[in-house]
Amino acid sequence: MNQIELNFEKQFDAPPQAVCFAPGRVNLIGEHTDYNGGHVFPCAINMGIRCAASKRDDSKLRFFSKNFKNSGIAEYSLGDLSPKGCWADYPAGVIRAFNSFGYPIKSGADFYFCGDLPDGAGLSSSAALEVASAAALKELFNIPVTGQESALICQFAENRFIGVNCGIMDQFASAMGKRGHALLLDAGTLEFEYAPLGGAQLVIINSGVKHSLASSAYNDRRRECETAQTALGTSFLCSLTPDEFEERKRLITDRVCRRRAKHVIYENQRALDAATALKKGDLDLFGKLMNESHASLRDDFEVSCRELDFLADFAQKSDGVYGSRMTGGGFGGCTVSLVEKSAVRDFTCAIQASFNAEFGRKPEVYPVTAENGAAVKKD
Ligand code: GLA
Repeated sequence: MNQIELNFEKQFDAPPQAVCFAPGRVNLIGEHTDYNGGHVFPCAINMGIRCAASKRDDSKLRFFSKNFKNSGIAEYSLGDLSPKGCWADYPAGVIRAFNSFGYPIKSGADFYFCGDLPDGAGLSSSAALEVASAAALKELFNIPVTGQESALICQFAENRFIGVNCGIMDQFASAMGKRGHALLLDAGTLEFEYAPLGGAQLVIINSGVKHSLASSAYNDRRRECETAQTALGTSFLCSLTPDEFEERKRLITDRVCRRRAKHVIYENQRALDAATALKKGDLDLFGKLMNESHASLRDDFEVSCRELDFLADFAQKSDGVYGSRMTGGGFGGCTVSLVEKSAVRDFTCAIQASFNAEFGRKPEVYPVTAENGAAVKKD
């Protein structure tokens, strides 16, 4: 038995019937485009959440997480799945979402989670928790859902149960990632393709500023985008090209909403251009687009912060770095940089030292690889 099976047994007195893993994700480019019907370009990473689970004979649902072990076991019942305002609302919400999608969960179950994704760092620990729960439920109850459908179920849980109006990117990347590849997803149609990442190294740096997606800022941005979209008279912001936006932007009278729309529409184009550049092996162009994405998120979408700007700026000026930007929803969290393999060590030391000199602490650095999406049992 591996560690999680032993831990499950210690907690719940019998070995688990299923063990699954769901990865976190890093988005390379295409930020705040998914809920505007645009393109995103994330990859699943080699950090994530493991889940061990077993069915029960009654209707109790018990959840334990090694990462929140001080909270003990959270208990719900199949008959009453209302949110309790704790971490276990995520897996409980997924169970409710399975019911809503026509896959009734017929008995209670015990769940044990553990993971190495930093919480609130923009690497989708919430989506990984949801997708790991969905993978375990699929396995335990023999539910015939595809990866795409389980991503939609998990997004539904987050929108309706947790109350974060997120798009589909995080859950989709966690469910559908592919080793060595990034995933270009059209979030409007859910059509997707994989692009090989090639030889450069992805380096994630954690600003240590915890974002809180559930806080109103993310939902505010969505509302501002909707205002712009209504003013432009289009069904999705990303159905417009940058040229069409320039012609029609005066229809958006609110200046803030106009800047939000500008970011979204240009960012969608950058994501498409970046995918083309990657396919051609043009990492210089890819990096330049990452840098432009950061500037736009900082100035027009206004979701960066001083620590993220410092990290992106330092990286962009460093030798061997193709490009760097904040990643994920923003308001804290991580940057992602595309770095020449031979430069990774020097870059890591230099950026940690200089961040330390500015902010009085060393940021964590994760050199990650692109990995497969959620799967049953991973040692
Ligand atoms: C969060 C959301 C995603 C996406 C990003 C911003 O990660 O969960 O759906 O909107 O922010 O690109």
